[in-house]
Amino acid sequence: MTPGGPPPILFDVYGTLLDTASVARACETVAPGRGAELGALWRARQLEYTWLRSGAGRYVNFQAVTEAALRYAVRASGARVAEDRVSALAGAYLSLDPFPEAAGALTRLRGAGHRCGVLSNGLPEMLLPALRRAGLADLLDPVLSADAVHRYKPHPRVYGLGPRALGCPAGEILFVSANGWDIAGAGWSGYRTFWVNRAGAPDEELDAPPWASGPTLDALAELLGAGDPDGIR
Ligand code: 2OP
Repeated sequence: MTPGGPPPILFDVYGTLLDTASVARACETVAPGRGAELGALWRARQLEYTWLRSGAGRYVNFQAVTEAALRYAVRASGARVAEDRVSALAGAYLSLDPFPEAAGALTRLRGAGHRCGVLSNGLPEMLLPALRRAGLADLLDPVLSADAVHRYKPHPRVYGLGPRALGCPAGEILFVSANGWDIAGAGWSGYRTFWVNRAGAPDEELDAPPWASGPTLDALAELLGAGDPDGIR
């Protein structure tokens, strides 16, 4: 990073660059009319299992956690799904839709000199195909995975991957997430944070408020004065 230059930015992936609600389409195939409900329960259990396993020192990788959370959600929803369909359905996390403004905002931030990468719970073999399919892979480097330390966010060892990869203290890195708890975790680890508050939710009561927040990734680009290199906006 150029001393005094634009700060590097690390983005959370699921819920921030990629829309986890887009698994609803795949969930509709096993729970017609209840795809969104099944997808939301699936996401909630996926996160809860990461917190439980990381806190208890019982790490398994994010693919295994994602499949386990799906099995729970399918059973809890009462949907009857054959085992081979569950594994296939879990693959929906490899083809999530990007948020509409993600590519444009990343392009503008890179054009303004910010190095942009990701720091995610996802396995590298999940993140890379998903980011490639979403058309974002070429805009992001490094791609950092919690799997490197066998913990999950908000464990400090996960956030510690950023300074190690970027060669600068956390306080010189901007961390961006749409997950309020992730913003708190990064703040506790010394990062400056921007919360993509798409739902207009209140701040979490976790004594680590974001440095700034906005409703979209474009709001971040505007806040950082990342002009539009092509004049297309
Ligand atoms: C991520 O690490 C928190 O699941 C979210 O990408």
